[in-house]
Amino acid sequence: MKNQGNGGGKQAAGIRAAGMVEDGSAIGLGTGSTVLYAMEEISRRISEGMRVTGVPTSHQAAIRARAMGIPLATLDDFPVLDLAIDGADQVDPSLRLIKGRGAALTREKCVADAARRLVIVADEAKMVSCLDAVVPVEVIPFAVTPVSCAITALGGTPVVREGMKKDGPVITDNGNFIIDCAFGRIPEPARLESMIEALPGVLSCGIFSGYAGKTVVIVGGTGGCRILSP
Ligand code: A5P
Repeated sequence: MKNQGNGGGKQAAGIRAAGMVEDGSAIGLGTGSTVLYAMEEISRRISEGMRVTGVPTSHQAAIRARAMGIPLATLDDFPVLDLAIDGADQVDPSLRLIKGRGAALTREKCVADAARRLVIVADEAKMVSCLDAVVPVEVIPFAVTPVSCAITALGGTPVVREGMKKDGPVITDNGNFIIDCAFGRIPEPARLESMIEALPGVLSCGIFSGYAGKTVVIVGGTGGCRILSP
């Protein structure tokens, strides 16, 4: 199954990330179009004899990985992962991220937390001087209204994400809703992340501010890749 995502930059970043996977390792498999390029290359290396086990962060990742012949496991099998490869919606110069366009943020955060190294694959369009993208928040349906009110009180504009080919709200792989929260510029991502994640009913938000110390960002462009690390 070929990746239908666009962009040579994404492909270059994905292939470079796959080259960081070592024989015999357990890796996190992120969600989105860029990671799929990495998975294609991992699949090719498996066909050459590399042994690797992947923990997928979504149904998308699991379905694609299985079709590509990548052996799968769970965090119950591997509570500590050698490495995780994932995409991002935005990356700032301190390697803090916004993720969750694909609604997989909670499992992505679990896998990022479990990984010794987090490899983020992106193209130049994702690189910003200050995070300002919409912040996805996964919330249990029971709490969607009080959490929306609390987001407004924090200065955000909450919108419950609607399905594209489904009437009503998007339902995540965990059976929850996504509230997309616009805050404008986010000068203190860690503070906002902890305030949102302290709200009862919130599983996680798409700000990933705590992993910069173990993060490598591969930025793919037409001329190749540049590597950002702390
Ligand atoms: C999934 O929920 C997201 O966090 C993705 O990892 C992120 O949106 C990057 O996706 P693309 O690689 O498709 O841009």
